[in-house]
Amino acid sequence: MEVIIRPDEQAAAELVAAIIAKELTARPQLVLGLATGATMERVYDELVRRHREEGLDFSLCRTFNLDEYIGLPPDDPRSYRSYMNRQLFSRVNIDLRNTHLPDGMAQDLQAECRRYEELISDCGGIDLQLLGIGRSGHIGFNEPLSALRSRTREKALAPTTIAQNAIYFGGDPAKVPCRAITMGVGTILEAHRCILLATGAAKADIVAKAVEGPITAMVTASVLQLHPRCTVVVDEAAASRLQGTDYYRWIFENEPEWAEFRRSSGRHVLRKPTNVQPRPRRRAGARR
Ligand code: F6R
Repeated sequence: MEVIIRPDEQAAAELVAAIIAKELTARPQLVLGLATGATMERVYDELVRRHREEGLDFSLCRTFNLDEYIGLPPDDPRSYRSYMNRQLFSRVNIDLRNTHLPDGMAQDLQAECRRYEELISDCGGIDLQLLGIGRSGHIGFNEPLSALRSRTREKALAPTTIAQNAIYFGGDPAKVPCRAITMGVGTILEAHRCILLATGAAKADIVAKAVEGPITAMVTASVLQLHPRCTVVVDEAAASRLQGTDYYRWIFENEPEWAEFRRSSGRHVLRKPTNVQPRPRRRAGARR
């Protein structure tokens, strides 16, 4: 696992989009695993910008989303299918037939979970899986105590997750669907590469547990420590409870793998007026 710390959420999202763009350019038929949620919106905006301004091509790309609520039809604006159409698919040249989410309206949900696993397998597995992290420590909707070898299945949402997502349901937790279909932890671990993006001070505690704490089913994101190629991208706020920040910063500044991303990072900073002073660099480990 590597941890990359960027100055703010925009820079973190731009780095993730740059990694995706590089992989997609190298392999136009990329099988891309996608996540929803507030954190990903900047990533999708940046991918759209790259499509419009730099010709990033999604025409052969295939996508699999991590999860979908049970009981929300795809055209419900709060469904993850709607989110993906709105945030990304309708804004780039992807073929909608190549975009996949679990069907939360399926009559036979277990059969739907099996179908989803088979579809991923038929596409040759996921090349690059994008992940967020919930305040419960979940990846996808793999809530605490999810089996670390689990496959795509139905899952009841944890109260923390229902509270976190209530904002999309008029602020009323009672309106949040309490079940979802989610890729399993084992399914996610089979992706060739994983990138977890977390931003904001509200994620600092759970990021520290997932990255530097013990591997535990209580924090399913912690299982990414076992993944042979996982990059965690955080902004300063989300990194503020990590212990090893000096080493993580050194990796980004010195390892050859990150050289091209060092050059392209800070693109958004250049857009700022020249009379804006750069923010003082906070002490490693300092809390906001
Ligand atoms: C949603 C998903 C979730 C979110 C996580 C963070 O598809 O996979 O694991 O990534 O709940 O959500 P935000 O970004 O809204 O904090």
